Amino acid sequence: MNIAIDGPAGAGKSSAAKLAAKKLGYIYVDTGALYRAVGVAALRRHIPTDSAKDVAAILPEIKVELAFVAGEQRVLLNGEDVSDEIRLPEASMAASNVSAIPAVRAFLFDLQRNIAKKTDCIMDGRDIGTVVLPDAECKIFLTASPEIRARRRFLELEQKGTPVDYETLLSEIRQRDFNDSNRAIAPLKPAPDAVILDSSDLTLDEVVERITALAKECAEAEH
Ligand code: DC
Repeated sequence: MNIAIDGPAGAGKSSAAKLAAKKLGYIYVDTGALYRAVGVAALRRHIPTDSAKDVAAILPEIKVELAFVAGEQRVLLNGEDVSDEIRLPEASMAASNVSAIPAVRAFLFDLQRNIAKKTDCIMDGRDIGTVVLPDAECKIFLTASPEIRARRRFLELEQKGTPVDYETLLSEIRQRDFNDSNRAIAPLKPAPDAVILDSSDLTLDEVVERITALAKECAEAEH
């Protein structure tokens, strides 16, 4: 059983999917981390992350792997755990840039498919229901307004003691939405058979509840 959750940056996919996976006893796979790892590899080499030619040229030198330690996903870049580094703000835009490059998407495709083949998982990303797992038993498109997503991110960073101006966050979210939705390859969009879940007026617990309820419905429909 595979559950695909797609949606824009900041809609709460990872927080909700992680909790839902725990409740269902599934593995949670965050595919954005893979694109982030490729972005970090490019940043480390000081190559432009939006250059298809330059980024494609480094792919033979890099190995991206996912490890699951006590149910938690870790991302390895050439054997090094980069799970923290990929969360730096510059890694977000780098990931968005490299993810528009077809060679990068092809490079990460089998890794994602193989995990889903081997185990029950909730996989989140942008193209999971449309491209990576078009046969997933359950597909959810989790979204929220850009303002709500920027506000959530603002509160999160404020709590962490690293406040960032709200308008800056909102414009970054809009920029990433535009990049992710308008690229030629595997753009962010709901699969025709996805259930649209708007989290704008829902708490995290409510979103988790909807996801687990949908997962049960999908599992019953399979039998
Ligand atoms: O989910 P995230 O913010 O960690 O993803 C980082 C970037 O990676 C995002 O801007 C778009 C890209 N991405 C993608 O193109 N396809 C996926 N399945 C997951 C992420």
